[in-house]
Amino acid sequence: MEPRKITDTVQWMGAVDWDRRLFDSLIPLPDGTSYNAYFIKGSEKNVLLDSADPDMSEVLLAQLEGIDRIDYLVSHHAEQDHSGTIPRVLEKYPAAKLISSTKAKGMLIDLLKIPKERFVTVEDGETLSLGDRTLKFVYTPWVHWPETMSTYLQEEKILFSCDFFGSHIATSDLFVTDEGRVYEAAKRYFAEIMMPFRNIIKKNLEKVSGLEIDMIAPSHGSIYKRPAFILDAYRDWVLSPPKNVAVIPYVSMHDSTRLMVDHLLADLVSRGVRVEKFNLAVTDIGKLAMALVDAATIVVGTPTVLAGPHPAAAYATFLANALRPKAEFLSIVGSYGWGGKTVETLAGMIPNLKVEVLDPVLGKGVPSESVYRSLDKLADTIASKHEEKGFK
Ligand code: FEO
Repeated sequence: MEPRKITDTVQWMGAVDWDRRLFDSLIPLPDGTSYNAYFIKGSEKNVLLDSADPDMSEVLLAQLEGIDRIDYLVSHHAEQDHSGTIPRVLEKYPAAKLISSTKAKGMLIDLLKIPKERFVTVEDGETLSLGDRTLKFVYTPWVHWPETMSTYLQEEKILFSCDFFGSHIATSDLFVTDEGRVYEAAKRYFAEIMMPFRNIIKKNLEKVSGLEIDMIAPSHGSIYKRPAFILDAYRDWVLSPPKNVAVIPYVSMHDSTRLMVDHLLADLVSRGVRVEKFNLAVTDIGKLAMALVDAATIVVGTPTVLAGPHPAAAYATFLANALRPKAEFLSIVGSYGWGGKTVETLAGMIPNLKVEVLDPVLGKGVPSESVYRSLDKLADTIASKHEEKGFK
């Protein structure tokens, strides 16, 4: 794609990756993604904000064909989907300086072997004049690496936020047109990489809320011309209490655990609790992560296999522990054949979760009447806990 005009001085550059389906060999990308770079032409200095994934280097370099001079290349974030083409851009513009946060400098040297003489580091709040335009660098750490910063273009009130507020979508929309679609993609992105850092992101939100912002231009997905849309969404995900939702990731081998899960689901729904159920044998793990953003309760459904939880349930539990959702209750249900340590194993995998563990329900073989009554009791407990807490 050719560079695209955002304002008279700002252009979108970068690449739309329509075909990518996995990030970090972990995160599903059902809608592809983009690696946004931005070119700003000041009256005295030219700047490129970020670069592109190394697989898309040629796309960015072709867009730069008509640009004679880059004075500064700003690296907001050292992860290679944005920094991977920096060495090629620095090679093309030998006089250009690479601007980064102090922490990013070492990371960029480690990851990309960029010579230290090319760097100019900036502190939080520092400004840089481009002549008729001014950049203000705003440290926004842990979205989702420790070195990340954003850039605020003061005269145009544009915040270039890098991963912060981003969404993995391959689209020809320069600006957000379908907020519903972008909401889902941005929530997925938040859930998968930002959620563990909610406390620091809260501070970052307060920090950027002090800026007058007309547009937010992230490094993935379309540009927000209505910043309140994504700022409000982040405030909900970060600051709001959990919702009246139980998330049930489960796996079943011979249907007994599924019967238990379905019974519990019906119980919860009849008691007014919203439920999201994920069969771990087939689910998109990003959907599960998204559901965890709002969940008040997590119930892991697993059979006992090889004396412990099914590996798929162990994976989901490990992931939930790593993502640190704000859920307050957790339980385990499932079927076993003759014994094992399923509950102990899973309970030992969640040190990061600040949850009250509710009595698990394990049944031998196909669920008996007494197992179903225990599930009824678990549903009563979950519903009353949610009500006591006032979860909506
Ligand atoms: Fe889009 Fe953390 O890189």
